[in-house]
Amino acid sequence: MTEPALNAELIGLLRSPGAKSPMHVEGDELVADRGAERYPIVGGVPRLAGEAYVGSFGRQWNRYDVARIEEDEATFEAKTGVPPHELAGRLVLDAGCGGGRYAKLVGGHGAKVLGVDLSSAVEKASELCAGLPNVQIVQGDLLDPPVAVAAFDLVFSIGVLHHSPDPRRAFAEIARRVRPGGRLAVWLYRRNTPPQEWLNSGLRALTTRLPARVLEPACVGLGALGSVPVVNRTLNKLVNFSAHPDWTLRVCDNFDWWAPPHQSHHTLHELLAWFDEEGFEDLVELAPMKSGRLYRWTYDHDLIIGSGVNVAGRRRA
Ligand SMILES: C[S@@+](CC[C@H](N)C(=O)[O-])C[C@H]1O[C@@H](n2cnc3c(N)ncnc32)[C@H](O)[C@@H]1O
Repeated sequence: MTEPALNAELIGLLRSPGAKSPMHVEGDELVADRGAERYPIVGGVPRLAGEAYVGSFGRQWNRYDVARIEEDEATFEAKTGVPPHELAGRLVLDAGCGGGRYAKLVGGHGAKVLGVDLSSAVEKASELCAGLPNVQIVQGDLLDPPVAVAAFDLVFSIGVLHHSPDPRRAFAEIARRVRPGGRLAVWLYRRNTPPQEWLNSGLRALTTRLPARVLEPACVGLGALGSVPVVNRTLNKLVNFSAHPDWTLRVCDNFDWWAPPHQSHHTLHELLAWFDEEGFEDLVELAPMKSGRLYRWTYDHDLIIGSGVNVAGRRRA
């Protein structure tokens, strides 16, 4: 199989993890600092960091096919506030691209997209975006993004920063990549009520220690539970399991919740303060996708496990 071609413009926006200098391609390596830094390019993906603590994500995104174009369009618009038809020609950073469903969508609408993720999910992302020369996937760490600062029209990060050991620092780092006047949109897990938080962290202290071969069947079991209408509207206010109508997404969502070692939960107030501290204005709280009075009441009272806090803003010019 031929390797996907590298996008020279997007590669030009990479900065080396060490000296933070521009990089160039030499054979199957990216090279910086007069040869002092060398990073392999494998399967068309520059590897500027190792998988570290995100092995569960490499596993899940390579295993489950979760891209669903119509749903992904609706989710992208809801979680960034950007209508996909406005993306053409924009320079976009997908901060934590996972298996690439949003990078593909944004690239498909004509934007130039750099998708960065720490896990081996970059392999799935690269495969998914193979037909889009305007998308470049890179394995890198958002706590020290190997990417030029103040460069992007839009930086978005959907469900990512709360999986790092230092979400505040990761937020500051991705915020710096937005050009003055550009847009940043971030979705993070919402902090639930204290009893829900205690129960969840107690259970996760166990599940995150389980090997995947044990946890995965448990997530399949929760997937079955998620298909029972009454159960999935009541019991999952206590412990999280997905009620997504699509079986694959349900099982993947369950694994996504119970496997990763880092998972922090945040308040709207906290996220708004981060935007403000990093020099963003015109802040908007983006509403959840689901509607209905009961849903909105439980959401506003922080009762929905797995729901988010979601803010977008513009970097001061
Ligand atoms: C729940 S997934 C979301 C992926 C994608 N945004 C989506 O919604 O499909 C979280 C992703 O964050 C990535 N991640 C976590 N910490 C990271 C870090 N420090 N740098 C880069 N990626 C990171 C994980 O590898 C994982 O793919």
